[in-house]
Amino acid sequence: MSDTPVMPPRLAPLFAAERQRFIDAHPRSLALSQRAQAHFLFGVPLHWMRDWPSPATLFVRQAQGVTLECADGLRHTDFCLGDTGAMFGHSPPPVAEAIAHQAARGLTCMLPSTEAADVGERLAQRFGLPCWQLALTASDANRFVLRWARAVTRRPQVLVFDGCYHGAVDDTLVDRDPATGQTVPRPSVLGQVHNHAAHTRVVPFNDLAALEAALAPGDVAALLAEPALTNFGLVPPAPGFWAAAQALCQRHGTLLVLDETHTLSCGPGGHARQHGLRPDVLVVGKAVAGGLPCAVYGFTGALAERMRAAKDGAPEGHSGIGTTLSANPLTLAALHAALNHLHTEAAYAPMLARAEQLEQGLLRRIQAAGRPWTVTRLGARLELQFMPHTPRHAQDVRDLGQPALEACTHLFMLNRGVLLTPFHSMMLCAPATTAGQVAQLLQAFDELLATLP
Ligand SMILES: Cc1ncc(COP(=O)(O)O)c(C=O)c1O
Repeated sequence: MSDTPVMPPRLAPLFAAERQRFIDAHPRSLALSQRAQAHFLFGVPLHWMRDWPSPATLFVRQAQGVTLECADGLRHTDFCLGDTGAMFGHSPPPVAEAIAHQAARGLTCMLPSTEAADVGERLAQRFGLPCWQLALTASDANRFVLRWARAVTRRPQVLVFDGCYHGAVDDTLVDRDPATGQTVPRPSVLGQVHNHAAHTRVVPFNDLAALEAALAPGDVAALLAEPALTNFGLVPPAPGFWAAAQALCQRHGTLLVLDETHTLSCGPGGHARQHGLRPDVLVVGKAVAGGLPCAVYGFTGALAERMRAAKDGAPEGHSGIGTTLSANPLTLAALHAALNHLHTEAAYAPMLARAEQLEQGLLRRIQAAGRPWTVTRLGARLELQFMPHTPRHAQDVRDLGQPALEACTHLFMLNRGVLLTPFHSMMLCAPATTAGQVAQLLQAFDELLATLP
């Protein structure tokens, strides 16, 4: 069983009732939760899977399109979509077919498959950068990009925004102390011995003066950033922020690395493509190959030259970049199918239309109920935010967020067959999300509004 999140007294009775409702409806998930305790730490194959507000882990029988069937045979409409990994739906048919086809023809061989050249051309067409490399996860890709950036610039520092998350990347697991503005190690990170705050600077998002001050010493190899913060509550860039930030990076010789792993929701090619930004490096993971483990990073021709020179200038041996299974033929087959069939205008059009319907429906209800909440949307991704306005930086989220209400909302919706992310009440619409499923979510939200004290 999961630990019970701490609830304020006004939400405690509702949360207790929802926990009981979950227990009554999920006897098989409960039994599997208890059984898995014997051989899995915390009873789950990855400890994060326990970080859901439900009293037991929801075990999945199958997931297809936007429907997830749990061990108890209940069908949940999935707006969490694996926190973006399944943004194009679970097992998109073209990707599933490509995987099945390739599975019988070799899974891994440390050599490129015959599809590789085509994949490179399609990546360049879709994302607008000419040169590419593959990794297996976005965490890996970000880690490798930082290594390349330090190698080519010969600068030690990296710069990130307060509230960032770029995966299990030590350099980025740092915080900004709100009292002093200093960069400090993130206290939740386990087993830290190196002081990453020594080589990483953190500045508030949307703060050009702070960004300029951090770049000014001329020792920053790369600014690694999501185009909008998506992991600390959805925080969009202020108008003009990126044009100015990009110019500052250029002026100070710092590489601009945009991590589009979540902002791929903006439209085909991600936020940078949609808004005409010109990063030096682009990273995309999670959904890029339709949900099969894969991440890609692309870079300009000028940077490719510098990367070549850095590699050629180094002694023979380990570069510290890449892993054995990266770019295996199975991954390339899935990526190829995803580039051909998922990263398209046709796939995005219904996602964007449904997300807009959902945004408008939620906003209308919030207004009618007179609640001091808002909804922020980034293409196919949106967030119900229990605060009066869209946050401008991470500190707004710290000051205004209501994690207990988020947890309550998540469980309430889950018990009504609607799956949101287990944090931040985030929702994604996939190409297969229907107007009926949007209406289902809105109906559950009506019920929540009527029930909340
Ligand atoms: C923006 C961003 N980058 C990178 C990652 C890391 O992805 P992965 O866990 O697949 O390595 C995440 C994960 O949530 C993310 O949100």
